[in-house]
Order: sequence, then C-alpha cells, then structure tokens
Amino acid sequence: MNAQLQNLHGDFKVILAQLSALAQSRGFRIYIVGGVVRDLLLRKNIFDLDCVVEGDAIALATSFAHDVRKEFKKHHAFGTATVYYDRHTIDFATARRETYSSWGVLPRVFPANLEEDLLRRDFTINAMAISLNKNDYGTLIDYYGGLADLRKGVIRVLHDKSFLDDPTRLLRAVRFCKRFSFAIEKNTALWAHEAVRKDALSFVHPHRLRDELILILKEPSPAGCIRKIDRLIGFSFIDKTLTLGEGDYRIMRRLAHTIDFYKKSFTHCRKLDEWVMYFAAVLHTLPIKRIKEVLRVFDFRKGDRVRVFSAKEYIFKVTRLAKPLKPHSVYRILNELSFETILFLYAYHTDARIRASIEYFFNTLAHVRLKVKGDDLQRLGVKPQTLYGTILKKLFDTTLDMHLSTKEEEMRRVRLIAKKIQSKRVRHT
Ligand code: CTP
Repeated sequence: MNAQLQNLHGDFKVILAQLSALAQSRGFRIYIVGGVVRDLLLRKNIFDLDCVVEGDAIALATSFAHDVRKEFKKHHAFGTATVYYDRHTIDFATARRETYSSWGVLPRVFPANLEEDLLRRDFTINAMAISLNKNDYGTLIDYYGGLADLRKGVIRVLHDKSFLDDPTRLLRAVRFCKRFSFAIEKNTALWAHEAVRKDALSFVHPHRLRDELILILKEPSPAGCIRKIDRLIGFSFIDKTLTLGEGDYRIMRRLAHTIDFYKKSFTHCRKLDEWVMYFAAVLHTLPIKRIKEVLRVFDFRKGDRVRVFSAKEYIFKVTRLAKPLKPHSVYRILNELSFETILFLYAYHTDARIRASIEYFFNTLAHVRLKVKGDDLQRLGVKPQTLYGTILKKLFDTTLDMHLSTKEEEMRRVRLIAKKIQSKRVRHT
C-alpha cells in the first residue's frame, strides 16, 4: 500500500508525514479514510483529505493548523475540524460509531475505534483506511472486503439495515455505481428495493436529498444516473406523480449534444451549471406550480430555482420563435433567460425555426453592445436626461434589426430616434 502513498502529490506527502509525527507526539492514532482511500486505490487524483483520529480530532487539527500556519474551522457539535491547506481541505473526525433512532434522521454518535468507525460507513469501497501511524505507516486497513469489491467492481453495503439507517445511500449507490461503472451487489440491491418499498427516502430531510441530487446531477453522465435512479428508486421522493419516459431521455440526449456544442463553440463564454439543465429535464413534465413547490420544499438557491422553473415556463413561450420575428423581438424573448435555460429550450424543441432563432441569439444577438452611450446624447444636447433610457433602448432594437455595426451608424440613427421621441413627448404635454 505504501506504493499508493508514494504516488501522492508532493504537497500531500509532506502533510501526511507532518500529521503522522504530530499524532504520535500526542499519543493519538490517525488514518486517512473513505473516498480518498478508494480513489488512491483507483489511482485517481486526490484534492482533499479525510482523516479519522483515535483520540481528540479537534485538538489534533488545532495543533496542526498552528504548526503549518493555516486557517481552520472547528465543528464541536460533530467532533470534527477542517484545515484549509492552500487549495486543499483536510477534514479531521474523531473515530465514532453511530446509532439511528429512526430512519433517515441524523444519527447519535459515540467515540469509538477505527473498526467501528468504518463499520458505520455506506459501502465497502468507502470503508477502508490507510494508517499514518509510525508502526504500520501506509498499510491498507480493510476489515470489510473493500479492496476485493473495488477489484470486482461492486457496490456493497456493510449490513442489511444500511439503506434504512441512511436512505440517502440509495442515491449514493446510484452515484458511485455510474461513476465507476460498477454493479450493485445482489443483496445490496435487495435491501435497496426493500428500503424503496418502505418509502425510506420520504423520512429524509429535503435538504439532504437536494444535496445528494445535485451531486448526482454533477456526475459526468447525469442522464445515465437519472435512468439508474428511475430503475432503482423512482422519482416519487421528488413528487408522487413524477415519472420519466423515453421522450424525456431523448431530451436529455439532445441536452448532452447541446452542451458539448456550446462548450466547443463558445470557449470564451462562462461555464454552465449543467446539473440545472438536467434537473429541468427531470421536472419539466410537472405543472409549473408544482415545480415551484418542489424547488421551495427542497430549498434550492434562488438562482437555481429561477433557472429551473423558467425552463418549464418558456417551453411554450419560445414557440413564438417559430414565427418570422424581427431580431429585437428574438432578443427580448431570450435575453431575460439564463444560458442554462436557453440551452435546455434548444434541446427540448426540435422545430428548426425555433432552433435557428436560438442559434442566432447565441451567435450574434447576445454579443451586441451599443457603442453610443448617455454621454454621446448629452454632447448632442438631447434633453431631458430622463429620456435617455427610452432612446437607448430604441437605438438598441434598431441596431439589432438594421445590423448597425459602427458608432457612426448608431449616431446617425440616434439623432432621428431622439428627435422622434422628443417631439412625441412635446405633443403629449
Ligand atoms: N459516508 C457514509 N454515508 C454517507 C455519506 C458519507 O458512510 N451518507 C462516508 C463514506 O465513507 C464516504 C465518506 O463518508 O467515503 C466521505 O463522504 P463524501 O465526501 O460524501 O463521499 P466520498 O466517498 O468522498 O465521495 P466523493 O468522491 O463524491 O467526494
């Protein structure tokens, strides 16, 4: 196992050696655990560390942070602490066992040893540790057959009540299964079905479900994850009536192409929140009122809520783009929407005219900026200033419709527009 630690980035080698020495001086034992160990065995890149301490994790993290002069945060309620080491975070937790008073609630925790700490975890592949202690530094600790499951490509829970204790593990099983192209072990699948039958996810706080959903939708193949959720769990934990059909998966396939196209063609544009678009694809068959309700109950951030429900709201509204419209009308319809929403609508609609309008918006209209500013109107002596907004808006529409490209062309137009608007105002007063 030492080989795995040897493969670590230089920063981490130094950190681990420091942690090892510090734990020893305090009389604690320390291990790296969980997903980090799994990823090391899979030879993936590691960015953050999770450490379990047999001893006082907060005290150890505090001394470590002082020694290396880094920021840290303590979470006394959980017996954990986080040290921010340059671009890495290092989490420290005191080894603990957990008991669940009922399904889906957060557990009560008690100090324990490493073996018990690993036993409370979700899957065997996430229940391994590597010792950082002097006598067996770098040794893999694998009480529950995680390495064999990793080699076989299997997601396996550690006991039959695992999904009932923590039903979010149903979603986590889907996530890891799709991420690594692993299979869910036979008994694990049976226990998962049993938890689904007992509607275990309805006992989980919506915030926890939301966080797991977002993580799933951020996986490299969100549509694959959605299909797996559909097969294993269903979507009634989001809404009792929500089901997906082949048409929805077709939209998701087009969404994947649309996103690829966007990334290749608009390298200078901002990064998309792709998960938002997939979530819109999951929810779009529900009535808009219900979508808003779901987004509220799960307490999604306001920006995410708006992007998801406007996707639904505009499915019908953008059908106007199928008619011949002036460029400024296309702009007015699409400009108030986020890129995520617009690209969802592009993937949703197959009508060539709607798609062409959206492409035109992305390629051309969205990049148009007026060269004439308020200062120019002032220099022309346009009065009163309260009209500038209206004049510039009109100029902008004209610029789009007449494809004006130079400041001179805009200046010529703005004189006419200002005159017209001023005289209209005089007539009205
Ligand atoms: N864990 C668990 N049950 C959960 C959540 C987490 O047992 N419901 C344990 C697992 O051992 C997991 C570790 O806590 O490996 C860290 O959790 P998290 O960071 O959520 O998972 P990772 O495995 O690190 O996954 P990722 O690679 O997606 O960060």
